[in-house]
Amino acid sequence: MDAVESLRDRLPGAPSVAVILGSGLGAFAEELTGAVTVPYSEIPGWPASTAVGHAGKLVFGKVAGANVAVLSGRAHLYEGYTAQQAAFGTRVMKRLGAHSIVITNAAGGINLSYSQGALVAISDHINLQGVNPLAGPNDDSLGPRFPDMSEAYNIGYRAIARAEAKSLGFELPEGVYAALLGPNYETPAEIRYLRTIGADLVGMSTAPEVIAANHMGMKVLAISCVTNMAAGVLDQKIDHEEVLETGRQVRSRFTALLKAVVPRIA
Ligand code: HPA
Repeated sequence: MDAVESLRDRLPGAPSVAVILGSGLGAFAEELTGAVTVPYSEIPGWPASTAVGHAGKLVFGKVAGANVAVLSGRAHLYEGYTAQQAAFGTRVMKRLGAHSIVITNAAGGINLSYSQGALVAISDHINLQGVNPLAGPNDDSLGPRFPDMSEAYNIGYRAIARAEAKSLGFELPEGVYAALLGPNYETPAEIRYLRTIGADLVGMSTAPEVIAANHMGMKVLAISCVTNMAAGVLDQKIDHEEVLETGRQVRSRFTALLKAVVPRIA
């Protein structure tokens, strides 16, 4: 991959952990010390991120001594990217040396015990996007044709995240994430359906990255920010500005959690 070669030349060190920051959740990138920033546009083959609230840059640096790569902005399927493109950054991170990936996203809350602004550790997902980054010939140098997904979200990492949240003074519940294509928010009927099949959260990202990471044997931690209750839960409409605003409101809690967890899994 040309992207790997070009980044190796520019990086101060190999990252042990990669972090993908979702909509409105970019603040953690500012916490890295000795940061080296590379705009996605300068990386060969890297899909540009076009969604509002996504910066589109890679930031390398340290958090409490750990080498970390932060992907600030991601490629979504709803932008017209393929699942392979959505997983491109994850694959580059593994090739650069990252053994683990922390994936964050904005999500709608389906589980009625959640409230707006809650952080939730994803325990499992239901991929309803209709596409898969592993479709097509298998690259045996990356992983097996039929990868296991029975612990796609590492249990030990979830325990670490829960403990660190508790130390910071808040609970980190777990939930199942339903991944949809988007870009429209769901209908209330779709949300009732998703609740029936066991989803607690709904969003438009994450599944391609998690599938690619598991394929390559990376350990995954994923945290959703419940930026809004899902369609039909409250008697109000969902708009993207609200999603971004909630992201801004949880900014300090979210950043504190990532700062505490990332060095422990590096
Ligand atoms: N649905 C899908 N994706 C989302 C939502 C939602 O309600 N909120 C933030 N991302």
